[in-house]
Amino acid sequence: KANTLILPKERKKEMQHIAVIGAGTMGNGIAHVFAQQGFEVVLVDLSAERLEKAVQSIALNLDRQVRKGIISVEEKPGILARINTSTHLENGTRVAELVVEAASEDFAIKRDLFRELDRLCPPSAILATNTSSLSITALASCTKRPEQVIGMHFMNPVPVMKLVEVIRGYSTSDEVCSAVMQLSRQLGKDPVEVNDYPGFIANRILMPMINEAVYALYEGVAGVEEIDTVMRTGMAHPMGPLQLADFIGLDVCLSILRVLQQGFGHPKYAPCPLLVNMVEAGMKGVKSGEGFYTYQ
Ligand code: CAA
Repeated sequence: KANTLILPKERKKEMQHIAVIGAGTMGNGIAHVFAQQGFEVVLVDLSAERLEKAVQSIALNLDRQVRKGIISVEEKPGILARINTSTHLENGTRVAELVVEAASEDFAIKRDLFRELDRLCPPSAILATNTSSLSITALASCTKRPEQVIGMHFMNPVPVMKLVEVIRGYSTSDEVCSAVMQLSRQLGKDPVEVNDYPGFIANRILMPMINEAVYALYEGVAGVEEIDTVMRTGMAHPMGPLQLADFIGLDVCLSILRVLQQGFGHPKYAPCPLLVNMVEAGMKGVKSGEGFYTYQ
């Protein structure tokens, strides 16, 4: 076996088969990094077209890694061969030791998926979610294995960003948490363990910064380019906050801010009216072609 994780003694189970649910940007990145490290991956999505697109993106991102010398050209076919796709949840999950759910950021969709996953997966399987802001504890409570439910929050672009925010739900066991921390390190990531409160750490800190940048624009303190330049060149951020908001999706930023606002009940998390207006006007950033910047 190319790559095997031996879990702590109590579990006596190896992780080799990973099911990734959802073939969007995050799902394809997650499938990519697992396959790159030798795991057998099944990528599941309702749409065959999305699966096809996901595999194309992975192939292009592997080409980038070949150009950068991160992987060799000979490794690419093997990595792609380790990624199977399916439009049926039961195909990927029947033998999975770990499922990483990266479906739409909608609680009802994820809740239904977790109920199904709980029914289909082997009893020992760990069910992880890549949610950026929904409660791990609430999702875990939809299953009969809340101690085996955990957050694995990857950052976009997944093959590049080192962080995995490993989020412990209220009932997540120590053993499952340490297995997922170890697994994340095996993926070449730098995992950080955090507890399950609104926005966890990444978005609790990132989203108020983005919101403040939108407020600065809204109040006319400076223009889009100026705000981004300050943060890029003054604070060495790779992207300014407004460009980053476009990259994440303005609708996603808005929904995370609402989770923070509702979860903490504090006005400091209230989304800037300009952000609300832009989302209502369909300006969602890169994915819609327009946000704070315009995209081709
Ligand atoms: N797969 C593989 N490699 C990729 C890639 C992908 N999808 N996208 C970019 N790369 C690689 C490139 O090959 C390049 O490699 P080198 O550094 O070795 O040269 C590197 O990444 C940089 O790419 P580019 O030169 O094309 O572009 P760039 O220098 O502008 O960097 C970026 C792009 C990595 C996205 C950088 O701008 C960046 O770090 N931006 C901030 C990203 C960030 O903050 N992400 C977190 C968002 S929040 C989130 O994801 C979670 C949430 O809950 C909202």
